[in-house]
Amino acid sequence: MADVVLESLTKKYGEVTAVKEVDLTIHDQEFTVLLGPSGCGKTTTLRCIAGLEEVTGGNIYMEGRRLNDVLPRDRDIAMVFQNYALYPHMTVYKNMAFGLKLRRVPKEQIDERVNRAAGILGLGELLHRRPRELSGGQRQRVAVGRAIVRNPRVFLFDEPLSNLDAKLRVQTRVELLKLHKQLNATSIYVTHDQIEAMTMGDRIVIMLDATIQQVGSPMDVYQKPANQFVAGFIGSPAMNFAPARVSADNGKLFIEGKGFKIGVLQENASELGSYRGQEVTFGIRPEDLRIETNGGADNSFEAVVDIVQPVGSDIFLDLNVSGDPITARVEANRKVRGGDRLRFSPLPGRVHAFDTTSGKTIL
Ligand SMILES: Nc1ncnc2c1ncn2[C@@H]1O[C@H](COP(=O)(O)OP(=O)(O)OP(=O)(O)O)[C@@H](O)[C@H]1O
Ligand SMILES: [Mg+2]
Repeated sequence: MADVVLESLTKKYGEVTAVKEVDLTIHDQEFTVLLGPSGCGKTTTLRCIAGLEEVTGGNIYMEGRRLNDVLPRDRDIAMVFQNYALYPHMTVYKNMAFGLKLRRVPKEQIDERVNRAAGILGLGELLHRRPRELSGGQRQRVAVGRAIVRNPRVFLFDEPLSNLDAKLRVQTRVELLKLHKQLNATSIYVTHDQIEAMTMGDRIVIMLDATIQQVGSPMDVYQKPANQFVAGFIGSPAMNFAPARVSADNGKLFIEGKGFKIGVLQENASELGSYRGQEVTFGIRPEDLRIETNGGADNSFEAVVDIVQPVGSDIFLDLNVSGDPITARVEANRKVRGGDRLRFSPLPGRVHAFDTTSGKTIL
């Protein structure tokens, strides 16, 4: 049972608080992704778990055992770094064997473990090469191999794909997931790439400014973001936001802004009711807007198409709604041209609203 528990974990570097009172339970065999913008504290969190940083406050437990004062090499945790940190003068074999040698693992056992890892990772033919004689993707696999041979209870990955080109990233992502299925080791994976997080994570932990904003499955954080930051960070193109007001008309609630007035579903009236007459931030995802063919249908608003961006499977439309920019994502077979004047409406039930002061999700 390799569950990892962070309890009010805090790390300060002088005046800078890199991680602030983080509470998190990572379940046995789970693939957890830490996601957030640069500087939010992802690497620091991993380094604390690995024991490479002394924590300022709080506790780290693994399988119920407190790790705070346990030396890194005794933690049963292996970390794969962003820059791979391979030894340039050593062969692939020696790079993978090195940590085991330091631990005085018997030679035959080292040989067995390195060969097994090389087999899993398709490195068998490359064991005699040095890192400079490898491609980026191969180096990345050696770095993973070095972690695998240790047979750790927990794997930590710090943006291991960021040095790879786009195509190799996608391939390696799949390889890492297959590897996870095979080894079933508890894994914590850091990235600032939300697509990577969505496709890889059993659960995603979204961080901002040294704190956790939300923990949930990929679908949870996409469909039910806890606040405006998460809503804008997850999803591509990003969710549209616009200032709005909650108004009432004939007993029905509306979210009303410059150039749009959208009826609130009866089932959502209770959440928004207390905001009647107040400002809120309206949110709608580009994929939740539809081109309205039915004239001035309820909830629809007019937009002028500024820019048409086909991406193959879809078209991204940059729209102008009464002077404000909005992005819509529509099917590739739509014939739309720059300058077109169209009506759009949000899919019912996909409308979001956020508190303008706290950023908290209302709807
Ligand atoms: N050794 C250090 N000394 C002082 N400040 C540090 C140190 N390491 C990190 N920080 C600060 O702590 C904060 C969190 O850094 P961290 O490296 O954990 O961010 P990150 O989320 O991994 O970012 P990135 O996506 O850019 O890698 C940042 O403000 C950073 O400047
Ligand atoms: Mg980092």
